[in-house]
Amino acid sequence: MKERVITGVKPTGLVHIGNYFGAIKPTLEMSKSFETLVFLADYHALNFITSAKELREFSLRLASTYLACGLDPEKIVFFRQSDVPETFELNWILSNVTPKGLMNRAHAYKAIVEANESEGQDRDHGVNMGLYNYPILMAADILIYDTKYVPVGLDQKQHCEIARDIAQYFNKRYGETFMLPEAKISESVGTIVGLDGRKMSKSYNNTIELFCDEKTLQKTINKIVTDSRTPGEPKDADCTLAKLYELFATKDEAQDFKEDLKSGLGWGEAKKMLFEKMNSFIKPMREKYDYYVSNPDLVEKILQAGAEKARLIARATLNRARQAVGVNKKES
Ligand code: TRP
Repeated sequence: MKERVITGVKPTGLVHIGNYFGAIKPTLEMSKSFETLVFLADYHALNFITSAKELREFSLRLASTYLACGLDPEKIVFFRQSDVPETFELNWILSNVTPKGLMNRAHAYKAIVEANESEGQDRDHGVNMGLYNYPILMAADILIYDTKYVPVGLDQKQHCEIARDIAQYFNKRYGETFMLPEAKISESVGTIVGLDGRKMSKSYNNTIELFCDEKTLQKTINKIVTDSRTPGEPKDADCTLAKLYELFATKDEAQDFKEDLKSGLGWGEAKKMLFEKMNSFIKPMREKYDYYVSNPDLVEKILQAGAEKARLIARATLNRARQAVGVNKKES
């Protein structure tokens, strides 16, 4: 039997090129060697998105993005967190073995407390219980699927360790019930550069949306920061444009592009070439994306079918936990 990995993604915005190369593509790669579950962490997103319309829209768009990028729902169990109610019941059970101090030490919460303190605010200013308990819900997500590996970026490493700690607290009190998960930290896929040469990130406002329309893509590429060298002057082959070009081109094409820059290719021309290269890569996926976004019923059907498969696993685990703590086993 293949080992199981799970990935949760929060529907809190539109996917950009950094997300594609840093998260989506590696997940799809990994699914070739592991039994893979991917879910939309919509209940985790509740802490960031307070408009129902937005949450619905982002969820549909995120699901459509994964499907358009090649997620095959026959091979990957693809579903929405909120469609697996067992998770939220397990969340409660786990709350009872989770020391409050463990939550106090979670990075996201700690960062807010520290900021509040330095501003002379009440330490819990702006903190709700959803934020505070976020790591317990994430532990429920992970433990309920008997997960072996959780592929995450460094920012989520602590959350995975907390999930493992909680599993150990539970197992110690009630006997072996949960599998101990491990974070699999993605060897930084090589950071994807943004428009200004820094890491592509929503917080720097330097992203290129993966499935924007062609015109917007062209306009965004035109915003890539370059130096003031004129056409004919040799350019730095290690510039942002070349780094982005590399992601979408073959090795030879990328080499040629760099040579062209060194021998004086103008920035305007280079941007046109980058647009053509990116667009030809993205276009077929964008067509699928647009198709899914305009067929929400189809996406819903896929997610419901995925939730059914996920619940088969979740029910069995939850039953083990229910029995372990002394409440009745449920029909499964
Ligand atoms: N906390 C994760 C993030 O912000 C999302 C997430 C929720 C998750 N549940 C998970 C990731 C379970 C992996 C496993 O990116």
